[in-house]
Amino acid sequence: MADPESSILTALSASPETSIPDTWAFSLSQNLDHNTVVGLSKSLEGDAYVSLRELSTQFYVLSSEAEEILTNGSQEMRVLRALVNSGEGGMAMAELENVVGKDICKIGMGNCLKNKWAKKEKDGRLVAVVGEMNDEVRDMLGLLKESSGDAAALDDKALAALKRRKLISLVTRKSYSITRGPAYAPQRVKKAADLTKEMLDSGKWKDTPFKPYNFQTLGETVGGGYLHPLLKVRAELRKILMEMGFQEMPTNKWVESSFWNFDSLFQPQSHPARDAHDTFFIKEPAQTISVPEDYYERVKTMHEVGGSGSIGYRYDFKREEAFKNLLRTHTTAISSQMLYKLANQEGGFQPARYFSIDRVFRNETMDATHLCEFHQVEGLVADYNLSLGDLIGTIETFFRKIGITKLRFKPAFNPYTEPSMEIFGYHPDLKKWTEIGNSGMFRPEMLTPMGLPENVRVIAWGLSLERPTMIKYRIDNIRNLFGHKVDMGMTKNAPVCRFEKANEEAENQ
Ligand code: PHE
Repeated sequence: MADPESSILTALSASPETSIPDTWAFSLSQNLDHNTVVGLSKSLEGDAYVSLRELSTQFYVLSSEAEEILTNGSQEMRVLRALVNSGEGGMAMAELENVVGKDICKIGMGNCLKNKWAKKEKDGRLVAVVGEMNDEVRDMLGLLKESSGDAAALDDKALAALKRRKLISLVTRKSYSITRGPAYAPQRVKKAADLTKEMLDSGKWKDTPFKPYNFQTLGETVGGGYLHPLLKVRAELRKILMEMGFQEMPTNKWVESSFWNFDSLFQPQSHPARDAHDTFFIKEPAQTISVPEDYYERVKTMHEVGGSGSIGYRYDFKREEAFKNLLRTHTTAISSQMLYKLANQEGGFQPARYFSIDRVFRNETMDATHLCEFHQVEGLVADYNLSLGDLIGTIETFFRKIGITKLRFKPAFNPYTEPSMEIFGYHPDLKKWTEIGNSGMFRPEMLTPMGLPENVRVIAWGLSLERPTMIKYRIDNIRNLFGHKVDMGMTKNAPVCRFEKANEEAENQ
């Protein structure tokens, strides 16, 4: 068999005007597979040997029921024939079904009655009222088949009737007409893709046709490791916080004592969050080894009787409760350790700005927006005489840098901050107000036992890393972001994270 490529080129060889009017007819006549012909034609077009023009042809195809009608006649005709043969007495339904078959009987009888070819007697018998008729349906199908499904073979009414009976359906076929291209030749010369040493040595490069460079093509994707979207957003947030003069806190441990996670934050030991329903406690080792004892005493006193103008919680502070190990429920456990260090460092307190972005754990019922482990972004500023205005200003600066400019603050409660404010942001991507974080000024009950000077105020805020990540990457179920159901392809294909900085020019005016 001739190879399909030279069949195509040869078919165009007679004169420059010669064409292949339709690849479909061409393939049929040459006994070639149409897809192969189209594939090769496109490849030839790529090398400018041919030009293609797309054709779209609509035609009707007959259903298997229609093919059956062509051989055996329409159902109504077969029913009529049976009735005519049965004479004047006609046939009972059961008899008719026996003779022509159940399906044929059902369709044929209905059409016979509709055409007034037969009538139903009172006793239910069917009787023919005409003699043998022309089988119009079969004739129409025959005409259509002869014309290869060309709609022009029948009038619209006939087509509609056949379509209604699902005997025919319209299909669209894509094919091409082919004419010579600017580089036409009866034989394709394969172009070299690479210049080789051999070509240079032999001088063959001089008359070798080369493939032109394709500057439009995309490079091969480079395989390797990929950063998870959470890590991409973390990198971006870390950059933003460093820009703002924040220093990263060492958060590289997940197990914490209740003392640092709760007590140092003036969270009473009976607080519901300290229940095993909300917190994962560690079984082994269940207790921490040590805490700074003098500080422990001051924390205990603050809980039991108060100080710095506070009356405390007035309960028996229990050492074993404070010593319980747990998976930290927030990175604020690290903030308190950092503040304690800041107060007790050599040379005394110095103003500081700290941040962290790391994992925390909560005993949550998991759903589309909650997991047992997630990540917190936390920031704090410790300085003399800070006010609520400083907190709002710092938060505004931070969120502006991730593209959120409209903020609202709602009074809230945290055991360790007063005042406390939930942060709501108008999200330009989601076009709605949504809760984006929590914030406050750490309470004197928390700061005084640490030994921080009295006029030092600490402003702080926290948010989850997952939330901005889900918004940024349009992920609506947290389980598709983190955990065993994550699609590795998503990680591979997720673009880098850049936050649209809010219009700084307008801001500076
Ligand atoms: N620790 C808080 C939380 O887990 C966040 C927060 C941090 C609130 C600092 C106020 C100040 O939601």
